[in-house]
Amino acid sequence: MPVCVLSHPFHAYPFTLTSKLIGVDIMSKHNNSWIELRDVSQSFRAESRNIVLFENVNLCIRQGESYAITGPSGSGKSSLLMLASGLEKPSTGSVVGCSETKTHSINELRSEIGFIFQQFHLLPELDALTNVALPLKLRGNKAATDIAKQWLEKVGLAHRSTHKPSQLSGGEQQRVAIARALAFSPKFIFADEPTGNLDSQSAKEIADLLFACCKDKGASLILVTHSEQLADKAMHQLHFNEGKCSWKKSVIPGEYCA
Ligand SMILES: Nc1ncnc2c1ncn2[C@@H]1O[C@H](COP(=O)(O)OP(=O)(O)OP(=O)(O)O)[C@@H](O)[C@H]1O
Ligand SMILES: [Mg+2]
Repeated sequence: MPVCVLSHPFHAYPFTLTSKLIGVDIMSKHNNSWIELRDVSQSFRAESRNIVLFENVNLCIRQGESYAITGPSGSGKSSLLMLASGLEKPSTGSVVGCSETKTHSINELRSEIGFIFQQFHLLPELDALTNVALPLKLRGNKAATDIAKQWLEKVGLAHRSTHKPSQLSGGEQQRVAIARALAFSPKFIFADEPTGNLDSQSAKEIADLLFACCKDKGASLILVTHSEQLADKAMHQLHFNEGKCSWKKSVIPGEYCA
């Protein structure tokens, strides 16, 4: 029976103490809010069997911090990401959004979340530029198209802006999906194997973009990866294996950023 009891090293500390530990006040600089997973378990019913993926996960996802989730295929990494972002509900336990003054539904953070799906989920009838501009337009941003163009440039795809997903390679679609998720400067970035389809140079450039959002803009970055090199860049590393999950690494952000 899989059992996961994960306590984030800072989870037990009151907020004020955490801020002191960090040294630089990342929290107030970036309009602090965070996501908490409280005793979260996930199981599925398949062919009259109950498959337990993980149980009793406690995790606190803070702004300005990066988290890598690693583990074998099928171990539950994408499932955890879907729960943590509020896209799916856990079988038991809860996922909530928090600020210094209140605890609220994760749904209230929906507009602050950028999600890079493992399968990209681009809208097939829209070209690359319109796919990237859409979340900005939905937020009423009048400069949506210009910002989308800049992001397509950042991911090296300016020359593909009028191409639809079916006219793009897997790696190109992945980069459009990354641009779409980052263009509106989300406070929380969930990235499911964001470099899985990329060559090593593109992977390095995308990793730099993702970690810059975290380090420079104070976003939370939660990524799933099979790449040890990418996982090593994160402040915190969480490993899934055979229903067990454990911390592989966790550092004080102030030390990491120095
Ligand atoms: N809705 C569902 N119903 C039944 N089983 C599911 C459901 N969603 C996920 N699973 C199962 O849960 C397990 C974990 O899936 P998940 O996608 O989280 O794995 P993963 O660690 O992301 O794997 P990969 O590295 O291959 O992407 C898989 O065996 C999958 O079939
Ligand atoms: Mg997955």
